[in-house]
Amino acid sequence: MTSVFYIPAINVIGLNSLNQALDTARDYGYKSALIVTDIMLAKLGMAEQLQQSLAERNIKSVVFDGTHPNPTTANVSAGLEILKNHHCDCVISLGGGSPHDCAKGIALVATNGGNIRDYEGVDRSAKPQLPMIAINTTAGTASEMTRFCIITDEERHIKMAIVDKHVTPVMSVNDPALMMGMPKSLTAATGMDALTHAIEAYVSVAATPITDACALKAITMIAKHLPVAVEEGDNLVAREAMAYAQFMAGMAFNNASLGYVHAMAHQLGGFYDLPHGVCNAVLLPHVEQFNSRVAAARLRDCAAAMGVEVSAMSAQQGADACIAAIRQLAKSVHIPTGLRDLNVKEQDFAILAANALKDACGLTNPVRASHEEIISIYQAAF
Ligand SMILES: [Fe+2]
Repeated sequence: MTSVFYIPAINVIGLNSLNQALDTARDYGYKSALIVTDIMLAKLGMAEQLQQSLAERNIKSVVFDGTHPNPTTANVSAGLEILKNHHCDCVISLGGGSPHDCAKGIALVATNGGNIRDYEGVDRSAKPQLPMIAINTTAGTASEMTRFCIITDEERHIKMAIVDKHVTPVMSVNDPALMMGMPKSLTAATGMDALTHAIEAYVSVAATPITDACALKAITMIAKHLPVAVEEGDNLVAREAMAYAQFMAGMAFNNASLGYVHAMAHQLGGFYDLPHGVCNAVLLPHVEQFNSRVAAARLRDCAAAMGVEVSAMSAQQGADACIAAIRQLAKSVHIPTGLRDLNVKEQDFAILAANALKDACGLTNPVRASHEEIISIYQAAF
């Protein structure tokens, strides 16, 4: 089987690495940037600071700070209009997954035309997007380095999965100095998202030796450092470790893809506008329970990576230990236990399950589920 490995050409990671990254942007010769961010980071002055740093490098910039936490088709259109009005030659996203995804949508439509809805699915675009630099402030969705772009279609109330090699940024930046201010709940949710990426990639039918190595290392680092990053937000060791871990989880899922946790979580996010990482964290043990019928040995590896002594365990015992370790980690970072706590409605499960089965992220789940089985997983997670 041939595998293709996608990753941005340049990936800058480390404390105070942003300046070095911006020097590279200057050397690329960009003249006019659209900065895509959200209102929180704009209010904190981070967008303005970035504008100053770009100006020092003779790069003009304009800010679009209207990105919704679950970015929408309307957000993409609004940002695209500013980009066109200012004749921008590059897009710089500043934030977590939401600004990165919104920026990808803008940059893709900027060169390919049409509407972002035209690109739902896998590799639907003809041309690379406008050059994009992704400056990450969470750990993480890893959207700063992936070919995944998730945009909510407000008309259909679904999250569209746009999986397209052309939305890969040219450069990703992970500077933990920008992550220190993340609140506890966001640190926990984004960290559990990264754990989900690594586990789904490891049990994916498209896993390779490269993605396996990235996934297992990421799982080990997240299990060790996430609780510290949540409890001690200014702990630089934990923050930097989480920056690396989420990046490696991104390397894994960007190439091995994901599974039903993401396919099902996207529907909850699109329907109820819920945080992505929390939806994943609640669903993860239940989907892996379902997957353990075919992926028990792989889940035992994940348990070992999380620090469980598995040498005397059967594959199924190891899978059970993995699921218990996931639950324990989620509990330790104060993730809600069930979908009930997120105001999800049982009567919506049938439509959510139908949409989950259409989500491109489910294609690589290790075992196929029926509509009834997806509903059962939602019910178990309730
Ligand atoms: Fe995710």
